[in-house]
Amino acid sequence: MDLDKAIQNRRCVRKFNPKKKPDWRTIIECIDSARYAPMAGGNYTLKFILVSDEEKINRIAKACQQDFVAQAKFVVVVCSNPARTINLYGKKGGCYAKYQAGAAVENFFLKIIESGLSTCWVGHFVEGQIKEILKIPEDTDVDAVFPIGYELEKPMTRKAKIDLDRILYFNRYGNVQMKKEEGGVE
Ligand SMILES: Cc1cc2nc3c(=O)[nH]c(=O)nc-3n(C[C@H](O)[C@H](O)[C@H](O)COP(=O)(O)O)c2cc1C
Repeated sequence: MDLDKAIQNRRCVRKFNPKKKPDWRTIIECIDSARYAPMAGGNYTLKFILVSDEEKINRIAKACQQDFVAQAKFVVVVCSNPARTINLYGKKGGCYAKYQAGAAVENFFLKIIESGLSTCWVGHFVEGQIKEILKIPEDTDVDAVFPIGYELEKPMTRKAKIDLDRILYFNRYGNVQMKKEEGGVE
């Protein structure tokens, strides 16, 4: 699959086929793509936890307060320890750890799509409960939860995305047109 297709086909799936179990090695390959994301100063702050234990998945679904998470045969939990980026960059380092988690997660998500698997970015959860279930250390934040499976049914329509002209400005905030003298066309 080419990059444009993966980007445009990516969406959050919340219904998984109970009869089809993904190969865990495929998920590892998707996690591998996260290593290539940009990291502030080359400091890798992230860890990925691949969860296959059914009881733990059920408990994670409860911690997320979202039943569909329990339908997945695998769950990937992304967490990060911002200590190193905070040491290097102060308060901003805490933000950097979050930004790079997002960058790594997008690589991972696109690889999931390319592999024919589906997932949903789950950001709502009771962090303390996820930490307890997976024995995540105190100094490490839980960034996101990804239930993974094969999509049960393809939707008839796709949710419209925001138009480009609503997110793009030229040369200053709020300027919606590229002027000729600034390199644009008449
Ligand atoms: C930071 C973040 C947190 C999210 N948390 C949840 C969540 O807890 N549960 C859920 O069903 N979807 C969650 N989503 C998925 C969004 O609802 C979804 O991306 C959005 O509706 C756009 O749909 P699409 O991803 O299919 O394009 C989250 C997405 C992001 C980026």
